[in-house]
Amino acid sequence: MNLLVAFAFLCLSTVAPWRVRSQQHRLLVNMTLVPNARASGALCLDGSLPAYHLHRGYGAGKDNWLLQFEGGGWCNDLRSCLDRAKTRRGSTRYMTKLEIFSGILSNNATLNPDFYNWNRVKLRYCDGGSFTGDTVFSNKTTTLHFKGQKIWEAIIRDLLPRGLEDARKALLSGCSAGGLATFHHCDNFATYLPMNASVKCLSDAGFFLDERDISLNYSMRFFFKSLVQLQGIEKNLNRNCTGALYFPDLCFFPQYALRYISAPYFILNSAYDVFQFHHILVPSSADLHGHWNDCKQNPAACTADQIDTLQGFRLDMLGALRPFYMNSRRGGMFINSCFAHCQSELQETWFGDDSSRINNKTIAEAVGDWYFSRNMTKEIDCAYPCDTTCHNLIPEAQVNSKA
Ligand SMILES: *[C@@H]1O[C@H](CO)[C@@H](O)[C@H](O)[C@H]1NC(C)=O
Ligand SMILES: *[C@@H]1O[C@H](CO)[C@@H](O)[C@H](O)[C@H]1NC(C)=O
Ligand SMILES: *[C@@H]1O[C@H](CO)[C@@H](O)[C@H](O)[C@H]1NC(C)=O
Ligand SMILES: *[C@@H]1O[C@H](CO)[C@@H](O)[C@H](O)[C@H]1NC(C)=O
Ligand SMILES: *[C@@H]1O[C@H](CO)[C@@H](O)[C@H](O)[C@H]1NC(C)=O
Ligand SMILES: *[C@@H]1O[C@H](CO)[C@@H](O)[C@H](O)[C@H]1NC(C)=O
Ligand SMILES: *[C@@H]1O[C@H](CO)[C@@H](O)[C@H](O)[C@H]1NC(C)=O
Ligand SMILES: *[C@@H]1O[C@H](CO)[C@@H](O)[C@H](O)[C@H]1NC(C)=O
Repeated sequence: MNLLVAFAFLCLSTVAPWRVRSQQHRLLVNMTLVPNARASGALCLDGSLPAYHLHRGYGAGKDNWLLQFEGGGWCNDLRSCLDRAKTRRGSTRYMTKLEIFSGILSNNATLNPDFYNWNRVKLRYCDGGSFTGDTVFSNKTTTLHFKGQKIWEAIIRDLLPRGLEDARKALLSGCSAGGLATFHHCDNFATYLPMNASVKCLSDAGFFLDERDISLNYSMRFFFKSLVQLQGIEKNLNRNCTGALYFPDLCFFPQYALRYISAPYFILNSAYDVFQFHHILVPSSADLHGHWNDCKQNPAACTADQIDTLQGFRLDMLGALRPFYMNSRRGGMFINSCFAHCQSELQETWFGDDSSRINNKTIAEAVGDWYFSRNMTKEIDCAYPCDTTCHNLIPEAQVNSKA
């Protein structure tokens, strides 16, 4: 199974009109390959070199670093990984060499007030395992590299002499499968940086819940279990977590790993995250007759029962976040009620006059207030359909409306 590939593509297509409008200001950043990765076997699924995109900081931000993991689903068996190896999700050969830096990656102070002048890096995703795998599959005809963990290490080693080793402030972020990667690399990231640097982490749409689907099957748990097994991930999970749980592979889920992470965290997620809605709560395997098709495309078309099910999902997410909400003094959160997935990389959801808000605060303001300790920031939205600031970014149908 190759989760999220089509999803991410369609999600981008819903924002095309905005992109066209702001074309004259968009920042394109060149790809940098990491030649030294080969020595440690840190290769993409197909054996190509891994890569990142770096845009330099300046002025007050010249010693500050934002690293952003690219997202894009996972592959959990040989067949789906072989397919992926022939696409931009599994090989730098097929990737665009110029990436648009927008939202949290923008270099425009008006659009990204707190991070615009930092060194900003996008780590390209080509391992299919949230940058955590470390094994190789090989037979007479086929080789697949499951080397996400090594790719992470190789990119960091490449960036250290470019100034990362002298960082004063750093933020490790990422969206979706990249948001999940932040949970598994946050504390490790801090060990590479000066002791006195301020190191924090942000997960955007990476809080994938260990939730049963509507047929009461733990289908996401099965999916992650097979992924962890295929890609040799378990040994790279937080040892304190794997030591504490009877099923150590569950530590791939953020809700179990989070309490063992020391660095300050910010969790940005929608309580009705559309990826989780479509693939964890209501995967097509649990809705064979397509009763949910209309509701998936347009929340206004959901029946009362379906809304109840979605409200139940929201409550389960808030429940899983409750220990963090209560106990993490240095943590921040922004859990809104929009039908979206990934809100930090798009200008329209990150920061602007009509951006999504909670208590009149944009995501950029909430993240900035938390990072710079300007204000306590743990925002939880009221339940659907109360929020009138939403940009619902739903794949397939182009429902890009106010809720
Ligand atoms: C920054 O963004 C604002 C708002 O879109 C725009 O008016 C301005 O021209 C941009 N500045 C640069 C240097 O692109
Ligand atoms: C990107 O890099 C290539 C090769 O180094 C170079 O030819 C091209 O001009 C660069 N593009 C931009 C926009 O910097
Ligand atoms: C090697 O593994 C691939 C993937 O499972 C399979 O399609 C192929 O037939 C195998 N080749 C040999 C020679 O066993
Ligand atoms: C960390 O310590 C080094 C060496 O003492 C110093 O140069 C640097 O400015 C300090 N960084 C911060 C963020 O305080
Ligand atoms: C539960 O989900 C897994 C993963 O999608 C699937 O392999 C399995 O067949 C499902 N079990 C049932 C009883 O539907
Ligand atoms: C595990 O917990 C111990 C004690 O709290 C701590 O010293 C250690 O750094 C933790 N290890 C990891 C991998 O988080
Ligand atoms: C919301 O914030 C904006 C600035 O971001 C401000 O202009 C507006 O007055 C605020 N609205 C309310 C109701 O506080
Ligand atoms: C801090 O947040 C609270 C609640 O959102 C708000 O009322 C207050 O004005 C904020 N303070 C600052 C300094 O931004």
